Amino acid sequence: MDGREEVVCEAARSGDSTKVKNLVSGGTDVTYFDQQGFTPLMHAAKHGHADVVKTLLEAGAPWNALTPSNLSAGDFAMDAGHQEAFDLLLNAGIQAELVLGTIARSENKNNVSDVDYLEDRVTFSEDKIMDSSSKAVMMAWEKPLMEAHAKAVCSGGGHILNIGFGMGLVDTAIQQYSPATHTIIEAHPEVYNRMLRTGWGEKENVKIIFGKWQDVLSQLDSYDGKFFHTSLLKYDSFVL
Ligand SMILES: C[S@@+](CC[C@H](N)C(=O)[O-])C[C@H]1O[C@@H](n2cnc3c(N)ncnc32)[C@H](O)[C@@H]1O
Repeated sequence: MDGREEVVCEAARSGDSTKVKNLVSGGTDVTYFDQQGFTPLMHAAKHGHADVVKTLLEAGAPWNALTPSNLSAGDFAMDAGHQEAFDLLLNAGIQAELVLGTIARSENKNNVSDVDYLEDRVTFSEDKIMDSSSKAVMMAWEKPLMEAHAKAVCSGGGHILNIGFGMGLVDTAIQQYSPATHTIIEAHPEVYNRMLRTGWGEKENVKIIFGKWQDVLSQLDSYDGKFFHTSLLKYDSFVL
């Protein structure tokens, strides 16, 4: 570190895209966290400098880095209403999820089923669900992504389907659009029990179907909006 990282943070904050470009092409570390625990990308997102956000993402800045209070660049852009910056971050997140899903699918080809996971114990904390080998099933930093998905899925109103409750991020966001009906399929017994404990079974427009989506197709109707998490794509049999 030679002070250029602080300069790139300042340039990102003030929206000086030429300076950011020069620093980045000179090899300045875009993964740097300043004393506040902010990356240059977070500064740019917080102030809505979409061109700087774009430059930093193209230079490999981590879109999903978190501050000490667990906020991501996407949170900052969304909270401040910087739509263009938010969309860039969202697209970076979607692309990363698709790439990771493709890698997981090719690595696991022919030998993975979701049976192992569904029989595994999961643990819940405020900001994540972990499986028994401490792999994250869902993390709170995905909240902005889930909220954007909910917005898209609910754009036509009506009847909404979500497969996989996880931390309930997308379902909480879907509820904010007051859909006529909101069907949730969840296959993990502990996640399902937690849904019931936290009152999801009592919401008027919510129907919970417990089971693997593959096994409950006959209980489904037709829907105006459907969502499934890309992590479900790692199972070869996932076809909707
Ligand atoms: C990554 S989480 C989904 C996170 C969710 N979108 C959120 O906003 O918190 C995936 C969820 O799908 C559930 N699941 C896994 N396989 C499933 C299957 N075959 N059918 C239905 N649910 C499944 C998991 O138990 C887990 O709760």
